[in-house]
Amino acid sequence: MSDVNLPIRPRRLRSSPALRRLTSETSLEPRHLVLPAFVREGLTEALPIGSMPGVMQHSLSSIRCLAADAVDAGVGGIMLFGVPEERDATGTAGSNSAGILNAALRAVKEEVGEALVVQADLCLDEFTDHGHCGVLDADGRVDNDATLLRYQELALAQAEAGADLLGLSGMMDGQVAAVREALDSAGREDVIILAYSAKYASAFYGPFRDAVESALVGDRRTYQLDPGNRREGMREALLDIDEGADIVMVKPAGSYLDVLADVAHASPIPVWAYQVSGEYSMIEAAAANGWIERERAIDESVLSIRRAGADVVLTYWAIEIAQRLNALN
Ligand code: PBG
Repeated sequence: MSDVNLPIRPRRLRSSPALRRLTSETSLEPRHLVLPAFVREGLTEALPIGSMPGVMQHSLSSIRCLAADAVDAGVGGIMLFGVPEERDATGTAGSNSAGILNAALRAVKEEVGEALVVQADLCLDEFTDHGHCGVLDADGRVDNDATLLRYQELALAQAEAGADLLGLSGMMDGQVAAVREALDSAGREDVIILAYSAKYASAFYGPFRDAVESALVGDRRTYQLDPGNRREGMREALLDIDEGADIVMVKPAGSYLDVLADVAHASPIPVWAYQVSGEYSMIEAAAANGWIERERAIDESVLSIRRAGADVVLTYWAIEIAQRLNALN
C-alpha cells in the first residue's frame, strides 16, 4: 500500500481490457461508414489514383465489384462521383441520363438493391470545363440562381437513375430548397437530401481534384466557407435544416471537429462528416514512410470524428475499417 492519500484514481477504469470495453464512450461499426468512390467514363478496368494510394478510378464494371465488397463488409452506403470524358460550360454530362455518374448509379443500384444506400454527389464541378461548382455569368462569376436550375436537373436525373440519397456539395445559397422542390414536384418525395452544409474552402481537397481530373483554375472561396469561420458553419447547417435537408454534413472532418461538435449538439437531424482526400493521403503518405502506424492512425482518425459527434463518416477507408471491425467479432 502506498501512503499517498489519493482516493480519486481515474486509472482504475482503464486497468483491464474488460473495463476499457465497458467504459468506452464511442463506438464505431461498419454501418457508420460510407464509401466515396469514383467512376470514370471510358475505362475498361480500374485505374489507380496517384495521389490517393489504394483508391481507384472505377469502370462501370469494377464499380459493381466494389459495391458488392462494400455490402459484404457491411458498410452503410456508397457515394458516387462521376468523371466524364467531355466537359462543357453548363456541365451537360451531369444531367444527361446516359452520363457517367447516372450510368454508374444505375449499375450500382442494380448490383446492390436495398443492401446499401446508394448516394450521388450532386454538383457541377466534375462536369464543367471551367471546374466550378456552378455555371458562370457573363463576367465569369459563379451565378447562384442559374446554378440552382441546373442542380434541379441533376437531381431529377440522379433520382431517375436510382440514387436513394443526393449529396448537395455545391454550396450555392438555397440549393436544398430548390432541389427539394424539384424532387417533390416530380413525385420523388422518397429521395433523401444530404446537405454538405458546412463545407470549407480547404486545401485538403487537393488529391480529390486529381481523382476527378478537375479543370479548376483558381479557388472556390466565393461559395465555400472561410476556414476560420466557426459560427458560419453552424449558420449554414441551420439554414439547410430549415430548407428541408434530411441530413447535414461538415467537411472536411479532421480539421473541423469544433464545427462538427457544434452542429452535432444543435441539430435535430442526423449529422455526418466527410473525411476528405487530403486527410486520407496524409496518413497514407506518413505510413508509407514508416513515420506512423497505419492501421492505428486510420482507426483513431475515424473514431475521433465519431467522438466529435458524427453519426456517419464518409471515408475512403470504409471497407478496410469495416473488415477490421468484422474480424474482431
Ligand atoms: C465537389 C466535391 C469536392 C469534394 C467532394 N465533393 C471537391 C471540392 O469541393 O473541391 C472533395 C472530396 C475530397 O477531397 O475527398 N463536387
